[in-house]
Amino acid sequence: MSEYVLELKNIAKRFGGVEVLHGVSFGLRPGEVHALLGENGAGKSTLIKVITGIHQPDGGEIFLNDKQVHFDDPLQARLAGIAAIYQELSLCPDLNVAENIFLGRQPTTVGGSINWRKLYSEADRLLTSLGVHLDLKAKARSLSIAQMQSVEIARAFSLNARILIMDEPTSSLTLKEVAELFGLVRRLRDEGTAIIFISHRLEELFEVADRVTVLRDGSYVDTRLVKDVTRDDLVRLMVGRTISNLFPKQDVKPGEIALKVEHLSLAGIFEDINFELHKGEILGMAGLVGAGRTDVARAIFGVVPPTSGTIQIEGRQVEIKSPQQAISLGLAYVPEDRQLHGLIPAMNITSNISLPILKEYARRGWLQDKAERSAAFSAARQMEVRANSIWQLARTLSGGNQQKVVLAKWLSTKPRILILDEPTRGIDVGTKAAVHALMSNLAAEGIAILMISSELPEVLGMSDRILVMHEGQMTALFSRAEATQEKIISAATQTIKTVRAL
Ligand SMILES: Nc1ncnc2c1ncn2[C@@H]1O[C@H](COP(=O)(O)OP(=O)(O)OP(=O)(O)O)[C@@H](O)[C@H]1O
Ligand SMILES: [Mg+2]
Repeated sequence: MSEYVLELKNIAKRFGGVEVLHGVSFGLRPGEVHALLGENGAGKSTLIKVITGIHQPDGGEIFLNDKQVHFDDPLQARLAGIAAIYQELSLCPDLNVAENIFLGRQPTTVGGSINWRKLYSEADRLLTSLGVHLDLKAKARSLSIAQMQSVEIARAFSLNARILIMDEPTSSLTLKEVAELFGLVRRLRDEGTAIIFISHRLEELFEVADRVTVLRDGSYVDTRLVKDVTRDDLVRLMVGRTISNLFPKQDVKPGEIALKVEHLSLAGIFEDINFELHKGEILGMAGLVGAGRTDVARAIFGVVPPTSGTIQIEGRQVEIKSPQQAISLGLAYVPEDRQLHGLIPAMNITSNISLPILKEYARRGWLQDKAERSAAFSAARQMEVRANSIWQLARTLSGGNQQKVVLAKWLSTKPRILILDEPTRGIDVGTKAAVHALMSNLAAEGIAILMISSELPEVLGMSDRILVMHEGQMTALFSRAEATQEKIISAATQTIKTVRAL
């Protein structure tokens, strides 16, 4: 008997002619949380998809409780007790919680129609056993990302999973939601479930994982006990070098006002937002997920125009009614959700990058021309996009590389005011440092940057000033010198108005 519930031996995987997994081996013990770590494009998600039958391996063997298995499709893997929640959530937005949990295999009556009573009572039992409180009849589209994940986990466990795989489950969660998820993970582990956990946040791994396996460029590097490694060890294993400065913020003397927002409100969503953003400045926007920061950004960018208040760009009052207009005024907005707003999955990297500036190319009459190609190529290189070629479809890129394409796409519009919404979510440490360096350089060139981030180290490390929001209101504005983690957290969780214009 081996010690593993799941064992992979020498797994190889190719896409087209390109091999992306080179003989990876991996052993998962019952009752452990095993982290899978590696840079963007290292092959983590691909390995997971081989385990769950989405991809077929081109070489190697998979053993489940010492028995060699082969999964033709995800359903077979699920029936064998392997459950997974992926980087992209997969609920049906118009179905409710209970329907989503039993999607495709609703309990039926003798007559063959759906047994609604059983569906709701089973769903209720499952959620209760997981310690999750949700309205069973709420439509999936009305849920927060954390709640959607709970539904996915419940769905996974409706098939008595013994192995749970989570691919970047925490990237869109608030601190509190992460704590709740980890509570659930520990509970499942203590009951003997084996868990594979992927995250780019190393601190999470130290909090929840027992062992860690590192992949680099599709190859197995090492497996260690988490208690025996340091953060620096892990970075070195992942990227093959140490990263000395994650926040290379340059000192830039702020120039004139690029963007000024006064009493900006969107009825029922946020109210009375006031700030000035100078050329060369990075203004951080901190707050809990759901505080309204993205809504403010979208209002400024003309996606959902504000109901009152004013916006000035370079001293001129403007009414921005659409993103096109915003772009023509020199604004760019990199959205937080690359799946929904950032990327066209069925198009290749080049087309995705040139999308916002298509007009410029179209004027010359020929879309796929050399200019487009070289602009895309240099933007992709600047962002260190890792892909087989610039013609690879966005859909088939690794999650972090999709994020980089979205960044590259907006940078290629040469904005004067750049709004970045969670710019490094899902991006590995090495590239994070590169994205931060790029931001800092852009600011030094005089671009005004509004950076929304839920990662406090990033906010503290990269911002000249920090605006904090809570429940649709602005609760504080700190200078770089006076900001601390504690002050930001306290302002992000309190409604009292202590705005101090600086
Ligand atoms: N369907 C596909 N067709 C072609 N190439 C693919 C496909 N799926 C993945 N790849 C390539 O395989 C490599 C590994 O991607 P994978 O998604 O496994 O990375 P990852 O480690 O999960 O990265 P991230 O941290 O960014 O999520 C990447 O170079 C990616 O472009
Ligand atoms: Mg991935």
